Amino acid sequence: MRIETLAVHAGHEPDPATGAVSPPIYLSTTFARGEDLSLPGGFLYARQDNPSRRALEAALAPLEGGAVALAFASGMAASAAVFQSLLPGDHVVAPIDAYYGTAKFLREVLGPWGLTASFVDMTDLGAVERAITPRTRLIWIETPSNPALAVTDIAGVAALAHAAGARSACDNTWATPLLQRPLDLGVDIVMHATTKYLGGHTDVTGGALVLKEDGEAAVRLRGIQTVGGAVPSAFDCWLVSRGIRTLPYRMRGHCDNAEAVAEFLSSHPKVEKVHYPGLKNDPGHEVARRQMSRFGGMLSFEVRGGAPPALSVVSRAKVFTRATSLGGPESLIEHRASVEGPETRTPPGLLRCSIGLEHPDDLVEDLEQALA
Ligand SMILES: Cc1ncc(COP(=O)(O)O)c(C=O)c1O
Repeated sequence: MRIETLAVHAGHEPDPATGAVSPPIYLSTTFARGEDLSLPGGFLYARQDNPSRRALEAALAPLEGGAVALAFASGMAASAAVFQSLLPGDHVVAPIDAYYGTAKFLREVLGPWGLTASFVDMTDLGAVERAITPRTRLIWIETPSNPALAVTDIAGVAALAHAAGARSACDNTWATPLLQRPLDLGVDIVMHATTKYLGGHTDVTGGALVLKEDGEAAVRLRGIQTVGGAVPSAFDCWLVSRGIRTLPYRMRGHCDNAEAVAEFLSSHPKVEKVHYPGLKNDPGHEVARRQMSRFGGMLSFEVRGGAPPALSVVSRAKVFTRATSLGGPESLIEHRASVEGPETRTPPGLLRCSIGLEHPDDLVEDLEQALA
């Protein structure tokens, strides 16, 4: 089945008890045993497993072409589970421009616990290869990256990981399974902040892992999920499941609109640089064309003159909402260096945009007046 059909139907059987087409939200934390002490529905206790989470996981796995999916309470909880599945003394190679929470967790939480990490420019396969040590167990990919939309060659990095006897994992939050399928490119684990495009409506925090194989790694990660307890609520599972049903059509709108905004910005005299892999002159365009079906709804641009003029563009925006995050119907704009704080590597004039589902002309006109 094609992805649009999977998005609508996977994990969405009519409720066997009532025939309800929209599935109920199972709030129960515990499940009754029969007189023979068996568990008629196969569920024991909600943290361990429950019908709402199981339905979400059944929806997620086929979208990425995986064998098994695990849902978490946030994107960070999903990433953390992958790192926690490693052992003290193990080594991780991660992108220098990884989502700042990912880098912070590796450095500040798992560093003292004994995990080591090297942060490299993942657009350079040679740099990735040089960073691998005999203790490397995982290479973490995030592409397109945040906030510069650098593009990593997923198949190239996955091959380097496997040659070194390590696993590879890819944060596919920005691209979504609609535009990029890391498991098909050789990656072992896909991670999502379902908070973003999969939820799709700026109203739920969640995360997910999808694994290519239902093997040893899946068992270990399932253990971390259920015993560690960073699990999503039943309502949150239901919201993400609902979001997934319209993901393919929402992504078309996000991509159409982002392309229009990127084209507009790339010829604006007050804009120094536009970061969008869909632009033919973008350094990541060729690799992105090979591994993505379209180029996504995220872009960033650098305003000439640095932080003060960039901040005043944000202040003047009327259709764009001044907020962090991404993947909802509303367009968002933020001055990324301010969000990342004093250690940021982000250029001072850079503005990051999540391009929403408004009419593209309204978005272009809003940026036009904000830049005037
Ligand atoms: C690429 C990426 N990965 C992971 C996360 C973390 O997700 P969450 O905020 O749900 O923990 C984010 C959040 O912005 C993100 O953009």
